[in-house]
Amino acid sequence: MKEYRVAIVGMGAVGREMVRILDKSSIPVSDLQLLVRKNDGAMIPFRGKEYLVKRVTPGVFKGVDLVLMAAGGDAAKELAPMARQEGAVVIDNSSAFRMAPDVPLVIPEINPEAAREHSGIIANPNCSTIQMLVPLKPLHDLFKIKRVVVSTYQAVSGTGKKAIDELKQQAEAYLASKKVESNIYPHQIAFNILPHIDSFLDNGYTKEEMKMVNETRKIFGDEDIQVSPTAVRVPVFNCHSESINIETEKPLPEVSEIKKILAEAPGVEVVDDVQNNVYPLAVNCSGTDKVYVGRIRKDFTISNGLNFWVVADNLRKGAALNAVQIAELLVAKDWL
Ligand SMILES: NC(=O)c1ccc[n+]([C@@H]2O[C@H](COP(=O)([O-])OP(=O)(O)OC[C@H]3O[C@@H](n4cnc5c(N)ncnc54)[C@H](OP(=O)(O)O)[C@@H]3O)[C@@H](O)[C@H]2O)c1
Repeated sequence: MKEYRVAIVGMGAVGREMVRILDKSSIPVSDLQLLVRKNDGAMIPFRGKEYLVKRVTPGVFKGVDLVLMAAGGDAAKELAPMARQEGAVVIDNSSAFRMAPDVPLVIPEINPEAAREHSGIIANPNCSTIQMLVPLKPLHDLFKIKRVVVSTYQAVSGTGKKAIDELKQQAEAYLASKKVESNIYPHQIAFNILPHIDSFLDNGYTKEEMKMVNETRKIFGDEDIQVSPTAVRVPVFNCHSESINIETEKPLPEVSEIKKILAEAPGVEVVDDVQNNVYPLAVNCSGTDKVYVGRIRKDFTISNGLNFWVVADNLRKGAALNAVQIAELLVAKDWL
């Protein structure tokens, strides 16, 4: 069986999750390099061995088949072309290449065929886009979605390891009546809600919000689908939640039928029993792989409208898991 030499760049919140997911994946790995900017001597376990985290150095990607990048956009712009030139295929988690015409933007449950067209770089979509589109896909295929109104409730892990530490520190300081310091976000995040993720653009939206608009069109291959987003940061350690409203072109069936459609969709799990207070919750979702959907109900203000609530682990399906699933797809189809 063919084995692959793999490098993972970035050992923050996403990179470390990638190592754990790759460990359990079906990909045969003959060599693994774990790379960062400043080496701190960390050792990370993978398939029964300990691996030393090393600095990225020139020529480090020579002989590597696959590079999984979780190091941010600046690092991706510098290192992904270098890795490609040295012969590797790169799957990048940043937004650096997502909208480039020659870079496939892939969610394996939705558009696996797009990955075949890569020219050395494949982009992983934004975490909020992934968990929105996995349950929207079967509904779009059957009823053609015209418009999506989405509000996100995004965990601090989406900003990375330093933001997780900041929420802990702020919560402890606040409860001890000490001064709360904000370094990662422009305002206190503990016991607060920030209607602001990433920087503001001239149109009044944030970059995070416009990623959801543009990436949806690219992944669905539908320039007409309208997405109206509000991205919000909440004081939750991990797992993003989203309130989603859709309007479809074709009439929607009864809610019981919609639940069946969603329950059969790849990557989706319906968690919806409101009589018993059962619906998807961020605290139940960490470390899991599905996109959980609940609170499914018709929008009674329009003819073909639906409301629902979606929760997923942003570090896994929103980032590391989706990237490793793309890698598994490339290996299975021999598209590397
Ligand atoms: N967190 C999420 O839910 C999520 C979801 C989707 C996508 N993403 C994307 O995934 C990427 C990583 O996010 P994260 O949350 O894991 O961030 P993070 O916790 O801040 O970790 C970033 C890692 O990248 C390394 N790094 C930065 N610049 C580098 C360079 N030039 N060369 C090598 N390593 C470098 C850092 O190493 P040093 O400590 O040595 O600087 C650190 O290990 C980002 O592009 C992010 O937008 C994240």
